[in-house]
Amino acid sequence: MDKLIIEGGVPLKGTVDVGGAKNAALPILFAAILVDGPVRLKNVPDTQDIVTTLRLLRDIGCECRREGEEVVLDAKNLHPEAPYEIVRKMRASVLCMGPLLARLGRVRAALPGGCNIGARPIDLHLKGLERLGAKFDLAGGDMVGSCESLKGAVVHFDTPTVGGTENVLMAAVLAEGETVLENAAKEPEVVDLANFLAACGAKIAGQGTSEIRVRGVSSLTGCGYGIIPDRIVAGTYLVAAGITDGEVLVRNCPFAELEPVVLKLRSMGMGIEKTPEGVLAKRSGPLRGADLTTQPHPGFPTDMQAQTMALMCLAEGASVVEESIFENRFMHVPEFCRMGAQITVRGRTAMVRGVSRLKGAPVMASDLRGGAALVLAGLAASGTTQVRRIYHVDRGYEAIEKKLGGLGARIRRERE
Ligand code: UD1
Repeated sequence: MDKLIIEGGVPLKGTVDVGGAKNAALPILFAAILVDGPVRLKNVPDTQDIVTTLRLLRDIGCECRREGEEVVLDAKNLHPEAPYEIVRKMRASVLCMGPLLARLGRVRAALPGGCNIGARPIDLHLKGLERLGAKFDLAGGDMVGSCESLKGAVVHFDTPTVGGTENVLMAAVLAEGETVLENAAKEPEVVDLANFLAACGAKIAGQGTSEIRVRGVSSLTGCGYGIIPDRIVAGTYLVAAGITDGEVLVRNCPFAELEPVVLKLRSMGMGIEKTPEGVLAKRSGPLRGADLTTQPHPGFPTDMQAQTMALMCLAEGASVVEESIFENRFMHVPEFCRMGAQITVRGRTAMVRGVSRLKGAPVMASDLRGGAALVLAGLAASGTTQVRRIYHVDRGYEAIEKKLGGLGARIRRERE
């Protein structure tokens, strides 16, 4: 297991490039299952979740090869079984269910367990696929699904689930007739998936709104497609500029998709401006506390909650953070407190009282974004911070120590 060693207190300066969005690339890689002929994807980030997905796809008979930032896939010899060994590593593996049902009429995928940030059921994925005609049974911890053929239907999601919307959307593009997804997720990653499917010949309207309409087609054809840049990685580097009192130009930053984050960081005293070269981030005055509630898009993303809390730890006054999406997404709090932060948690609400400095300490990442937030805290803290279990962070950030090192951070990776 690797850890990161950070000597904090260096204001970050320079330019950083943002790669493709992991959460857009994942469903699009799974969507290649639906397509006849080769698919060439550009801007696929080199993160561990992508490595895991390519391994799963190969395991179910989809040819995949990486050529630099591109991945070429060809779903030639599919079979419908996704093993627990891979699914347990990454919950997003359940995104193979819709495509395999649509393509083969069968799927057997291990049921993912709970995860660190909450129970995270997949009931809405299954209900949606059932509305299209699939039947599911549990056997030996695996979800076994089958269908004669999929038929379009109205699918209403009780909650706008990102993965659920993606799974049902992928099944619907090859279903007979029209499917309407109501209360669908509006996240930019869902839109990117829909745009990719449309580029392969799917008939989809309304992506980015809460009602997506799909007219089924009999087959999809391969195409070349570029994945959108990662808004969460970009947001993390904006906070890195603010928390170290540095000045960072974030290139390839999806400014419009990051609006709720940009507005919150500005209200906390950061100056964030769009320039022709990228988005320039620095402090515009002292950091001030702010309140935030995580919400489905276009609200404040839960995937930026922990990183923003790192900034709040050093802001004047109090901040209140309400996590409305996941029930257990404050595991970074006790670790921040080990560094001198003052935070109290009551249920899904955390109260942060700003302190004037954080002190380096050994801390442990217990999930992806919480781990990134500990790295941010370490960059600002005095002395040495060790962030253990950095494999969580590697799931979603490409070579984070190289990118931060390029901005002047004193950071290195070591084997435990
Ligand atoms: C995706 C993102 C994740 C992000 C999250 C919320 C990927 C690979 N992951 O996760 O980074 O934090 O969106 O923006 O894109 N729910 C149910 N039943 C279901 C499905 C979801 O009750 O069948 C609940 C969840 O427990 C959660 C809420 O719905 O409380 C939202 O979850 P969802 O949008 O599905 O998150 P993911 O797709 O898992």
